[in-house]
Amino acid sequence: MEYVDLRSDTVTKPTPEMREAMAEAEVGDDVYMDDPTVNQLQIKAAEMLGKEDSLFVPSGTMGNLLALLVHCQRGDEVIVGDKSHIYMNEAGGMSALGGIQPHPVKNQADGTLLLDDILASIQTEDVHHTITRLICLENTQNVCGGIPLSVEYTQAVGEIAHENNLSLHIDGARIFNAATALNVSVKELVQPADSVMFCLSKGLVAPVGSMLVGTHKFINRARHLRKMLGGGMRQVGVLAAAGLISLEKMSTRLGQDHARAKKLYEGLKQVQGLNLDAGTLSTNMVYFDLADEVKLSVDEIMVEMKKRAVLIDWAGPRRFRLVTHYWVDDAGVEKTVKAFGEIFSLR
Ligand SMILES: Cc1ncc(COP(=O)(O)O)c(C=O)c1O
Repeated sequence: MEYVDLRSDTVTKPTPEMREAMAEAEVGDDVYMDDPTVNQLQIKAAEMLGKEDSLFVPSGTMGNLLALLVHCQRGDEVIVGDKSHIYMNEAGGMSALGGIQPHPVKNQADGTLLLDDILASIQTEDVHHTITRLICLENTQNVCGGIPLSVEYTQAVGEIAHENNLSLHIDGARIFNAATALNVSVKELVQPADSVMFCLSKGLVAPVGSMLVGTHKFINRARHLRKMLGGGMRQVGVLAAAGLISLEKMSTRLGQDHARAKKLYEGLKQVQGLNLDAGTLSTNMVYFDLADEVKLSVDEIMVEMKKRAVLIDWAGPRRFRLVTHYWVDDAGVEKTVKAFGEIFSLR
């Protein structure tokens, strides 16, 4: 059975062009920094984000952890969104492995942290307090609807960070989606950040890998810590080859995924029993809640959808998130709306 898989953009399999490039990739030992394909990828990623240097890492989680470990010492504090991936979904790595304390700040419905909340969260110098070192933003903000944070907002947070002697890290797992939605360059969007992590393995379709970008000094330290965490990889040009295609080709087509998310949203609005999030749809994610009258559980709905060859994932006890990506075409969107219509009925 051919499934429409809307569980996440992480499910994207490499394209035939990627597989070919992977098979033919020139490789070397990347721990010796001898892999020409990885080196090329790292130069390209740094260039595209307007930073000095970059590092290929196995996952977004490792990229974020490395950033936190480079920016902070044990006992330091990091300001993070209370709905951020770093805070909610990275297994507490910053505390467990770095002795770093998160200071969660409420994510507003539009994905931002209020500037006043950030300012109020910066610790004053006092023997009792931790030392605030870093602010983290997430762009797009996944749990708030895949919302992009604007250039102006990022600049305002960057100013607060730098005026207070802090650094700014962006978890930009989907920063290319954000830049596409805002119609700005990624470089402009991340200009105020001291470091950025972005994923090749989500909307950019590569099978594995993320990039961490920052200054040469920052990346040299991150490379050392990546080795410490067991993330020093060897002939990893086979993966970097797919990543190059992500940057060169996949980064410019994300508007198609956003248009399909919109089409999906419009279709699902016609289905009874689904309360779609209003006003958040701007990239590749569609979130909705089940209306009170719906008696089916999220698990039962997932089973019913699977019977109709559509894979979806829950985002809460009464909530779903559907994500469009390279492998979801218009027919897939129509099939999904039809399947929901069969289970619930159209308005
Ligand atoms: C916003 C965000 N940041 C970071 C990550 C972590 O990426 P990875 O799954 O590659 O560790 C994810 C993964 O879904 C994410 O959505």
